[in-house]
Amino acid sequence: MSDCILVTGGAGYIGSQTCKALAAAGYRPVTLDNMVYGHEWAVKWGELVRGDILDAQTLDAVFSRHAPAAVIHFAAYAYVGESVTDPQKYYRNNVGGSLSLLEAMRRHDCRYMVFSSTCATYGEPKEIPIPENHPQHPVNPYGWSKLMIEQMLKDFDTAYGLRHVALRYFNAAGADPDGIVGEEHDPETHLIPLAILAALGRRRALSVFGRDYPTPDGTAIRDYIHVADLAEAHVAALKFLLAEDRSEAFNLGTGTGHTVQQVIETVQEVGGREVPVADAPRRAGDPPALVAVADKARRILGWEPKIPDLQGIIRTAWDWHRKQ
Ligand SMILES: NC(=O)c1ccc[n+]([C@@H]2O[C@H](COP(=O)([O-])OP(=O)(O)OC[C@H]3O[C@@H](n4cnc5c(N)ncnc54)[C@H](O)[C@@H]3O)[C@@H](O)[C@H]2O)c1
Repeated sequence: MSDCILVTGGAGYIGSQTCKALAAAGYRPVTLDNMVYGHEWAVKWGELVRGDILDAQTLDAVFSRHAPAAVIHFAAYAYVGESVTDPQKYYRNNVGGSLSLLEAMRRHDCRYMVFSSTCATYGEPKEIPIPENHPQHPVNPYGWSKLMIEQMLKDFDTAYGLRHVALRYFNAAGADPDGIVGEEHDPETHLIPLAILAALGRRRALSVFGRDYPTPDGTAIRDYIHVADLAEAHVAALKFLLAEDRSEAFNLGTGTGHTVQQVIETVQEVGGREVPVADAPRRAGDPPALVAVADKARRILGWEPKIPDLQGIIRTAWDWHRKQ
């Protein structure tokens, strides 16, 4: 029988796409999701277990029944602004939840984890593009919660031989190229879906936070990575872990930055509709640019983004949102 992979948060945006990639690669994904932000319709590949990673009994039942070869750990809260106003919620769920999961892995002798980390662990960049060995000094509790988990993983490696790959995503975007799953965050805070929903008339004007950044058009620069490419990187990281039995951290981005204004123009081109915009002041803690040095994952994992261009990313997202 094929190896079972436990996917926490598998009913979410990136987790569901990764279950698809796992199934295509011959693994048997099992999703564990408390459904706070997950969608039942998104769990199309493998079983759904409704439960919380903070609940040791649920974890014991899942590990006993499925004996997963590894865990891919997406389950977390990820609203940066909320993490500033309600940090307790983020440390409890993200850090406490991850510790509870790691304890269960030790009880059941499961030694491999692929972890959803983030470029938010770097904080204000000291250089652009950002390499993996850039200092990590987050500027919000969400970023700190993810950095604390990276630290726990390093310590669990040293002490218990529990190996991990930390994948530091830049901006996940786009939808399944086959149109089966896609992004449906509520509330939505990501630029590309907000721009598309504004163009489709389903939302008010898109707020552009800051037009006075030191960038070519004054708007902030981010590195957008297609969700299907992220999913493939998880499969590659899993194979790396199982084959090499050592821990690593990788940036996942394309290495190319795009301004907010370029995103708006590309949405308009792809959709053939205007994006209504409203200018707003810069938000605290939003750096002018976040772009990955993206070659380590290519070199070591043999991973290559298949939809690296902004146009291609936005087209899949447009098709997905239009049909919702
Ligand atoms: N979307 C991005 O651009 C981005 C960037 C960097 C990192 N990340 C990280 O990637 C991961 C997935 O992000 P996403 O955009 O798919 O988010 P998402 O909210 O769509 O998915 C997260 C899933 O985890 C579940 N979950 C949360 N807490 C749980 C708990 N205690 N027990 C069980 N399930 C729980 C939610 O119900 C949800 O289905 C997160 O860890 C996030 O921090 C996302």
